Amino acid sequence: MNAAAPPLGVADALSREAVEWWLRQTDVERLEELWAAADETRRRYVGDAVHLRGLVEVSNYCVRGCTYCGIRAANRGVERYRVSEDVVLDCAHKAVDFGYGTLVMQAGEDYGISREWMAAVLRRVRSETSISAITLSLGERPDEDLAAWREAGADRYLLRFETSDEELYRRIHPDLPGRVSDRMRILRRLQELGYEAGTGIMVGIPGQTYASIADDVELFRGMDMDMIGIGPYLPHPATPLGQEFERRRAEDDWPEDQAPNSELMTCKVLALTRLARPDSNLPATTALSLVDKAAGRAHGLQRGANVVMPNLTPLEERERYEIYPEKAAVHETAEAINESIMRLLSSLGRTVGAGAGGRGAV
Ligand code: 5AD
Repeated sequence: MNAAAPPLGVADALSREAVEWWLRQTDVERLEELWAAADETRRRYVGDAVHLRGLVEVSNYCVRGCTYCGIRAANRGVERYRVSEDVVLDCAHKAVDFGYGTLVMQAGEDYGISREWMAAVLRRVRSETSISAITLSLGERPDEDLAAWREAGADRYLLRFETSDEELYRRIHPDLPGRVSDRMRILRRLQELGYEAGTGIMVGIPGQTYASIADDVELFRGMDMDMIGIGPYLPHPATPLGQEFERRRAEDDWPEDQAPNSELMTCKVLALTRLARPDSNLPATTALSLVDKAAGRAHGLQRGANVVMPNLTPLEERERYEIYPEKAAVHETAEAINESIMRLLSSLGRTVGAGAGGRGAV
């Protein structure tokens, strides 16, 4: 019943058994121990500074058919856009004005974003602004693109492996014809090219078990990633997986050992990841802030996270970048988002990180 909790060690001192035990724990008083351990570890290893990364959603075109994602190619309901070079530059200037160290450019896997176009944008951001680090999140691009962008000034690249359950991954992330998706290989390649690499998962994908999330945390421990993004799976009604989720919910028909896509579950994964990889950069994700609008972001920052990615995308484009629903409902301007994040940080007694905020930067 009230069995002794397995110890909340840090790095190799946190056992796989403990990870799974804590993932299954639902007693909110017990969980206070996990939150306290994660918060203390975060403070000790990466300090009180929260690194702000300004996000620009550069394009919502995508060649992929990921069954969870609202901007999948087959979703005809999406009005597609690609921003101009000047829009990216405006966002970069805004990031500097707001004091953000890093600019993140994210898009669907869009080959309309050519190698040359992105290289030119990177060079302009580098030469015309004082942004100190540039992160890309543009999908499974060929090695030649990744190399050219590194050369042109990109420092970091984000590519979540989404789940370590191979069979589930194949189900939610169909290959392109003739190209097997191997995100682990791409992550290794990114590191060879001198990028700081980031990965991550969604929590509560239909078919994702507690045991498989414990495997994800094990994998994080062994991977040497600079950034790990963890967010709840948010069902999008215009996607096959979103429709499956709704049917399962209506019929209360879940696979055995199904992990929930809740705020609480996401916080447990985040906190355990902080313990497993004490010096990594962990964002309090937008998806986490949406699943609990009142407390999600604050909880993230109090349970292991040390990064926030405020959205700088102009409103018109932002509402079309609907990888999950409700994102568009966030109608705040970049200025309003910035103010609310600054208020939140000061209410939590946290400071704003200076500079690029690489791993282990206290
Ligand atoms: N719910 C939650 N996260 C999602 N992502 C994409 N679609 C969804 C969704 N419906 C996440 C994926 C991807 C990242 C850019 O956004 O993890 O890697």
